Amino acid sequence: MSDILDVSSDWLTLRETEDARARSRDLALAAAAMLGTRPIVVHDLGSGTGSMMRWLAPFLPGPQEWVLHDWNASLTEHAVVGPPTLDRDGIPVSVTSRVGELADLQPTDLSAASLVTASALLDVLTAPELHAIVDACVRVGVPTLLALSVTGEVHLDPGDARDGVVGRAFNSHQRREAGGRRLLGRYGAPIARGLFERAGWRVRTAATTWRLDDHDPRLLGEWFDGWVDAAVEQRPELRALVADYRRQRSSQLNSGTLSAVIHHRDLLAWPR
Ligand SMILES: C[S@@+](CC[C@H](N)C(=O)[O-])C[C@H]1O[C@@H](n2cnc3c(N)ncnc32)[C@H](O)[C@@H]1O
Repeated sequence: MSDILDVSSDWLTLRETEDARARSRDLALAAAAMLGTRPIVVHDLGSGTGSMMRWLAPFLPGPQEWVLHDWNASLTEHAVVGPPTLDRDGIPVSVTSRVGELADLQPTDLSAASLVTASALLDVLTAPELHAIVDACVRVGVPTLLALSVTGEVHLDPGDARDGVVGRAFNSHQRREAGGRRLLGRYGAPIARGLFERAGWRVRTAATTWRLDDHDPRLLGEWFDGWVDAAVEQRPELRALVADYRRQRSSQLNSGTLSAVIHHRDLLAWPR
């Protein structure tokens, strides 16, 4: 696995509440309505610490078995040993994990699947990894819910002429080559949509947005720092330009006058 793309469990925990608020309940309920025989087996790809399971399980009937796939065993362990997650009827779901590269995903890895899910994953994948995932889902033939893919659109309030410069550099950073892997960034969701449609599947999407302000200044501050750091890593010549920008944004953050809207898209695909 690439160290460059290692996400921390602290960051996943910090963002979990906003992720839960932002994801599309309409698409979750639509997926729930498509489920067939019991038990419901959900394979969550790039599961991290299990945030998608904790959000989605209460929308779905039981009994439920979750299989968390990630290449980072230390993240999935949080979900496996953590407090129980309850299904729609208040019954604990069972959880197991599989450590592996999604590039190698085979239909047999999605055994007995009723539903495949992922959240905040597509932008950090490469094209071969996304192809492997869509191919496996299509061959298994069960609904697939891919939540919270970034679109690359960010709006800060109050606006600043430097927002666009930083935003464009951040979007380029998302498309960088890291550890020999060229990432899809904001193209992940449109490409997934195209692959499912080419396979003859139906697709629904929903706009899902993070709305960050002084209700969670720590998340807003960490998101902003990460956004600017990535932009400067991509374009080091921006370092001088962003020094004053950071100071100004930090003072707005401290006075509770800064807010940010970060656009995402959820996607539900299913066979006709
Ligand atoms: C941004 S995190 C999202 C985690 C979780 N879905 C959530 O919403 O909190 C992306 C996750 O995908 C995993 N991941 C990224 N690329 C992967 C790959 N090629 N194979 C397996 N896991 C991968 C990372 O380890 C990380 O846990």
